[in-house]
Amino acid sequence: MPTQSDLRAGFQGALIVSFETRQSARMEDLIRSFGGQPLCVPTLQEIPLENNPEMLAFGKRLVQGEADVLVLMTGVGVRWLFEMLFRHFDRAQVLQALSRVTTVARGPKTVFAMRELGLTPTMTVAEPGTWHEILEVLDSSSKGLSLEGKVVAIQEEAGGQEGLPEGLKKRGARVMEVPVYRWALPLDTQPLKQAIGKIIAGEAGAVFFTNSAQVQNVLRAAAELGLEEELHRAFRAGVVASIGPSCSEKLKASGIRVDFEPESPRMEAMVEECSRAFAELAKSSRGEVPVYVLQDRAGDLKSDLKLRSESPFMKACRREPSSVTPIWLMRQAGRYMKEYRALRSRVGFLELCKNKELCAEVTVFAQEKTGADAAILFSDILLIVEPFGLGLEYSRGDGPVISGGLESPAAIERMPEIDPVSSLGFVMDAVRLIRRTLKPEIPLIGFSGAPFTLASYILEGGSSKIFLRTKRLMMTEPKAWHLLMGKISRAVAKYLNAQIEAGADVVQLFDSWAGCLAPEDYREFVLPHTKSVIDSLKPGVPVVHFATGTGGYLPLMREAGGDVIGVDFRVPLDEAWRSIGYDRGIQGNLDPVLLCGPTDVLLRQAARVMEQAEGRPGFIFNLGHGILPETSLANVQALVDFVHQYRR
Ligand code: CP3
Repeated sequence: MPTQSDLRAGFQGALIVSFETRQSARMEDLIRSFGGQPLCVPTLQEIPLENNPEMLAFGKRLVQGEADVLVLMTGVGVRWLFEMLFRHFDRAQVLQALSRVTTVARGPKTVFAMRELGLTPTMTVAEPGTWHEILEVLDSSSKGLSLEGKVVAIQEEAGGQEGLPEGLKKRGARVMEVPVYRWALPLDTQPLKQAIGKIIAGEAGAVFFTNSAQVQNVLRAAAELGLEEELHRAFRAGVVASIGPSCSEKLKASGIRVDFEPESPRMEAMVEECSRAFAELAKSSRGEVPVYVLQDRAGDLKSDLKLRSESPFMKACRREPSSVTPIWLMRQAGRYMKEYRALRSRVGFLELCKNKELCAEVTVFAQEKTGADAAILFSDILLIVEPFGLGLEYSRGDGPVISGGLESPAAIERMPEIDPVSSLGFVMDAVRLIRRTLKPEIPLIGFSGAPFTLASYILEGGSSKIFLRTKRLMMTEPKAWHLLMGKISRAVAKYLNAQIEAGADVVQLFDSWAGCLAPEDYREFVLPHTKSVIDSLKPGVPVVHFATGTGGYLPLMREAGGDVIGVDFRVPLDEAWRSIGYDRGIQGNLDPVLLCGPTDVLLRQAARVMEQAEGRPGFIFNLGHGILPETSLANVQALVDFVHQYRR
């Protein structure tokens, strides 16, 4: 029973929408008892799945005596599962085989349905019977049941079993998930559609999802009304509560941010805990507008890969001819976009980089808005300094500040070897989410700073014009220099391979400041390290090696490696390519300042770059350095169209 203070802190009379179908009466009571005004609308209708392959496979194993445990989740599920099994297998054989199987029944309705078939469950799990409780019952079984190597079948319930399959696998079980229903929209969708109308009108104080099947049905009903986009916006502006991890996963994959998840995935916990946090939640999420609504676009892995591999960008990386010249722009997501600035007024840059949803929104949005042929992961080259134990701050106006600098050889000695796979795991999470939500035909570029540019930031403590500390260490303490570069290089190689593993199609190394060096110094102090990074990357994944100011020693950059060399505007593209050699691709090299001026001037200069590429395969149009904040988006779009339409 809620106390007076619970009620005061509770829903305060707000309209709370729930999509719970089966237990709607209980949900209504709960919401009311915590001070809310419930609106529970049915979202699911169970349509039995007739000849589904998982059911047939399970039946076969069962009669062959190869199934050890069967977890039965719902009464209706039991009835239909056995009706189907009896259709395809001999009834007596099924029942006999079942007598050798450990059966776990969740809740009284399931037990009752089993009794109708003359079956008695080996174990029962009391209501509410979440996956935690099912696992507990299995773990504490007096028969000392070990699940190691056992075949455990689960009669699948609406929207998946949360953590049950994972939990069973952790215990060594071989899990079979046996679906018995698909989850159609209810016959009468009017109540659901009216609820969607209220959510869009901003009338709902919170929205409750209690299983993942509800997510797609709610979105489907909104799509039928042509209101999917509006609903997404409304979810952003309101409070979305999810009952547990798999429901939250589904919500996030559908582009819906989850504001609240209870400690344990039970309806009671959800309503009670959410009511306590309600006032805070409502305050913090109101008025938030997404940069972009993410959608799960992943299709069949193999055909998506094939589609991508035939894209103009990937073809150019392999120096194969393609119908159009591919173009993307360094820093194509950033402050020149008003949506990005609006987002940044709410979240700090580092916070943004560490939030996979926001990174994905910004990345995918920029690709679509610009029409670029590739997307680049939204992140920053400097994030890697944090795992090294250094402080990182982006302060307005001054550029990045890196603290705890490594002045002495002894400090470099003490610097740890790092494992970015874990310390920068959020980047790989972002890569995975971007890959799922980006159009399947668009390649994703992962990136890292190159060892030299990273070393310069670390040693200078930020940006620099003359690189005094960097060059001093290099010239006077070569041993310490190589030690530092070695540590950075190993981290960078691991980092890039992890991005590739997570789904990056191409990687780019940014050696933005390598041009401050004399060629001989580049050869001695930088080249071997960059080369060691590139040589240890997963074969078959194209590498773009970018630097600025290296027009005087492009052959050395080529020697360090890269399928494509990125060049800046201080060297004409045709000269640059000649000096790199035509057996490498080239990327560049329009002066980014041109995007801040009149369009005709911009396109005239773009035409010059196109001419200098001489129609050779292996050319990727880009800027000579990153987009400036003063850039006009219309110019970017005009440039992309121009390059795509360009015919020599
Ligand atoms: O290209 C993209 O759209 C992806 C994102 C990306 C950023 N930084 C986002 C960013 C990439 C690829 C980078 C690389 C990067 N970062 C480089 C190499 C490329 C180059 O420009 O030479 C370098 C040197 C950095 C270091 C860095 N990050 C600096 C010097 C600054 C501050 C100066 C500035 O331009 O504001 C950043 C911050 C940064 N990185 C911003 C963005 C969008 C601006 C931060 C903000 O929102 O205030």
